[in-house]
Formats: sequence, C-alpha cells, structure tokens
Amino acid sequence: MTETVKIIFIDKGETKEFNVPVGTTVLEAAHNNNIDLEGACEGSLACSTCHVVVDKNFYDLLNEPSEDEEDMLDLAFGLTPTSRLGCQIVMTKELDGLTLIVPDETRNVSM
Ligand code: FES
Repeated sequence: MTETVKIIFIDKGETKEFNVPVGTTVLEAAHNNNIDLEGACEGSLACSTCHVVVDKNFYDLLNEPSEDEEDMLDLAFGLTPTSRLGCQIVMTKELDGLTLIVPDETRNVSM
C-alpha cells in the first residue's frame, strides 16, 4: 500500500483537503484533484504557471529551491517570500498537512 499524506489547497478562498501518495508533486496533486493550477510546461521548469504560495509554517520544511526554480519564480506574478513552483515540491511524510495558496494572478498570464 502506498503511503498517503494530506495536502491542503486554498483555492479562491476555499479550503480543499486531499490525501495524495507520498512522492506526488504539488502540481500532480492539484491536477489529480481538479485544482486550477496551470503547470504549462508539465514540470520542466520552463514556466511559472505552477506558482503556489506555501504556508509559512511549512516553507522551511521544503528543500531549497534550485537556481532554475528561483529564476522562473522571478517571473511569477504576485511573488511572495514563501512562493514556490508547485512542480518542484514533492510530497514526503514530513510534509503531511502541507498547506498552499493557489494565487489568482497566475491564471491570466499568457506566456
Ligand atoms: S509546471 Fe512549468 S515550472 Fe512548474
């Protein structure tokens, strides 16, 4: 049995909770659960449409963003100090309960 962890998206002010298998990326978790997170480049670090804002209580538990991720994040609209790219966050047991805000601004960006 695959172990699952809880992930919480705050999408348009609504809190949505899901259980996802360990090893799933935040982007996959969003797509599998009908969360409107674009992810135009399917996780190849060539866009910033998978931008999510990480709850500050969880931010420090994440691995440091790579330089490529930082570069892409710079292009994201509504960048915050706890912004990350959803395709680069992989769910682990430690991240159980990870809470993320889906920013509205990414939706209208045409790349
Ligand atoms: S889906 Fe494009 S960088 Fe994450």
